[in-house]
Amino acid sequence: MAKVITTISLKGGVGKTTITAGVAEFMSAEFGQKVLLIDLDSQINLTTMMISEGDWFDLNKKGLTLATLFRDAVEGTSNFDVQASIQRSVSPVKKVTGVDLLPSSLDLIGLQERISALRVNEGSPTSAVDILRKAIEPVAAYYDYILIDCPPNVGPITLNGLAMADGYIIPTIPDVLSTYGIPQIQTRIKEFGEELGRSIVELGLVITKYKSNSSIHRTTIRNLRRDQHIQNVLPVYLAESNSIAASAQFEPYGTLKGKYGNAGQFDQLREITKNIMTEAEAKL
Ligand SMILES: Nc1ncnc2c1ncn2[C@@H]1O[C@H](COP(=O)(O)OP(=O)(O)OP(=O)(O)O)[C@@H](O)[C@H]1O
Ligand SMILES: [Mg+2]
Repeated sequence: MAKVITTISLKGGVGKTTITAGVAEFMSAEFGQKVLLIDLDSQINLTTMMISEGDWFDLNKKGLTLATLFRDAVEGTSNFDVQASIQRSVSPVKKVTGVDLLPSSLDLIGLQERISALRVNEGSPTSAVDILRKAIEPVAAYYDYILIDCPPNVGPITLNGLAMADGYIIPTIPDVLSTYGIPQIQTRIKEFGEELGRSIVELGLVITKYKSNSSIHRTTIRNLRRDQHIQNVLPVYLAESNSIAASAQFEPYGTLKGKYGNAGQFDQLREITKNIMTEAEAKL
């Protein structure tokens, strides 16, 4: 069965989507893994990093996104077709051939509250959190890894991601405000795991947008490493760089070095991916 890892944090803009996209591409091109990406964020950032906006627009018009799945849940319909919705061999990088994508939709914005209402009506902490897991079940065995990108909240759609996750990673910029909500998200995931009757394993904190010349960055990392509540700060950090920022633009690239840059970025992302896989193999 695929190992399922969610990328999560309460803080927005800390590089969750960038890390998820990069790790999936490196898992495929550098480590020969078959990966399914699931985009649970109504901002559709991961989706439009992997397919063009035009392609997304067409898929959305045809109902081939996760909005159809969650709409089914609130309206009692069964229109979602998992096989047709999964986009095969996405990524703008030619060398990446083993990454599939279950696309998100801007229409998830309006569905969020209706799923919350469903949860309140059913009245249990685990109501309406199994929608995604059940939909993916028929295809899960086909993948080595399923990586789920979440919005920066623990709303009902994020809970659907956590409910099928074996483990999670927390990307963070090593500064005061970005690290602020880490204990809260750890506690929430632990409690949710208890409600589900199993544990969702913390695989590690991923340091993103690292500036080696910043004393606050260095101090924050030192403090995170000393913090007994943080199990694992991955040893390799993703530095802040223009080429990583530019990689969010969907345009054709031949190689991962071409997309992310080869002034440290390629090696950092490769090591981060390797570390996550090592953690996952040991703990999941
Ligand atoms: N290492 C980096 N160097 C430079 N820019 C980066 C880096 N990582 C991410 N970015 C940029 O920072 C912004 C936020 O990154 P990203 O969208 O990955 O964060 P996020 O945590 O997924 O955000 P959200 O909470 O909105 O989902 C984007 O513009 C992205 O391109
Ligand atoms: Mg994001």
